[in-house]
Amino acid sequence: MSDMPTLTIGNKTSLLPIIQGGMAVRISMAPLAAAVAQAGGIGIIAGSGLSPQEMLKEMRAARAVTTGVVGVNIMVAIRRFKETVHAALEGGADLIVAGAGFSRDVFGWAGEAGVPVVPIVGSARVASLAERFGAAAVVVEGVEAGGHLGTDRPMLDLLPEIVEAVDIPVVGAGGVVTGADIRRTLEAGAAGVQMGSRFAATVESSAPEGFKQMYVDATEDDIVIVKSPVGLPGRAIRNPFSRRMAEGEFPPIERCISCLKKCGKDYCIIERLERAQGGDVEDGLVFAGSSAARIHDVPSVAELMNRLVSEWNASGEGE
Ligand SMILES: Cc1cc2nc3c(=O)[nH]c(=O)nc-3n(C[C@H](O)[C@H](O)[C@H](O)COP(=O)(O)O)c2cc1C
Repeated sequence: MSDMPTLTIGNKTSLLPIIQGGMAVRISMAPLAAAVAQAGGIGIIAGSGLSPQEMLKEMRAARAVTTGVVGVNIMVAIRRFKETVHAALEGGADLIVAGAGFSRDVFGWAGEAGVPVVPIVGSARVASLAERFGAAAVVVEGVEAGGHLGTDRPMLDLLPEIVEAVDIPVVGAGGVVTGADIRRTLEAGAAGVQMGSRFAATVESSAPEGFKQMYVDATEDDIVIVKSPVGLPGRAIRNPFSRRMAEGEFPPIERCISCLKKCGKDYCIIERLERAQGGDVEDGLVFAGSSAARIHDVPSVAELMNRLVSEWNASGEGE
C-alpha cells in the first residue's frame, strides 16, 4: 500500500503520478509505454523520427495490450508535426505531449478529439501561455534532463514559480530516478513527475543492450552537453562521437529529408539517434540525463515501479 497520489490530466487519471518521458528515436516505443501504463503510470511513445504510419502502428500496438494511459511525445520542431499528431490521435492516444517549440494549432487538433495537450515548458511565461491556449497540464523540464534542453535552471528551482503561475497540474522532469526524488518533487508543488533516463534503462525500453550498459557504467564525468542542429543544447553520454563534436568535427550529412522545420545542419541528429538505437553507441548519439550516473541496473518496468513505491514509502516514514 502506498499513499502516492494519483495524477489527473484533463479526463485521464493514472494510479501513480509517474509519466515515462517520450524518448526518441525509437527508445520509448509501444512495449515500454504499455508496460508503464499497465503498472499504473502514464506511458509515452516518442513520435519524433517516426513516419506518421509508424506512429499509428505503434500507438495501436500499445492500445491493443493495455487499457492504461498511453500518450505520445512529438517535437513541435519536426516538419510533419501535424500529420504525426493526427496519426497518434487516430491510433487512440490518451494525451499529446509537445516539446522543443510551442504550437497553438495542436490545441485545436487534439481538442476536437477530446484529447488533453501537455506542453513541455522551461519558464513561467510559456507555462501561462500554454494554460491560456488550453493546456491540460505542463511538464517543467530542468537542466538535469536527458535530450534537448530548454533551460539552464534546475527543475526544483524552476518548479515553484511555475506552480505559482498556473492553475493546471505541473509535472516535474529532470533528475528524478528514485521514490525519494518523486516525494521531493511533489513536496515542491508538482502534481507528478516525468522520468526519462530511469526508464531508458529498463528491460522493456527499446534501447539496445550497449546503450543500457552505458547508463549503468556512467559516472557524473561521463555526462556531457552536446550541440544539436535542432538549435538547443542536448545532454548525452560521452562517447567517441561526442568527443569529436566537442572538437568541432561534425560528420557529413549523408541523406537529408528535411525532417526539421529549421535545422542547423551541423550533422543529422535523426541519423545519429537512429545509429545509437541500432546498437552503434560509439558513433551514435546516446541521450541521457545527469541522473544516469545514479542508475546502476536494468530492471523490468514492474520491478522499477514497485521499487519507486517502496522508496516513496520509506522516504516518508517519520513525517
Ligand atoms: C534517450 C532520451 C531521449 C529523449 N527524447 C526526447 C524526445 O524525443 N522528446 C522530448 O520531449 N523529450 C525527450 N527526452 C526527455 C525525456 O522525455 C524526459 O523529459 C527527461 O529525460 C527527464 O529527465 P531525466 O532523464 O533526468 O529523467 C529524452 C530523454 C532521453 C534520456
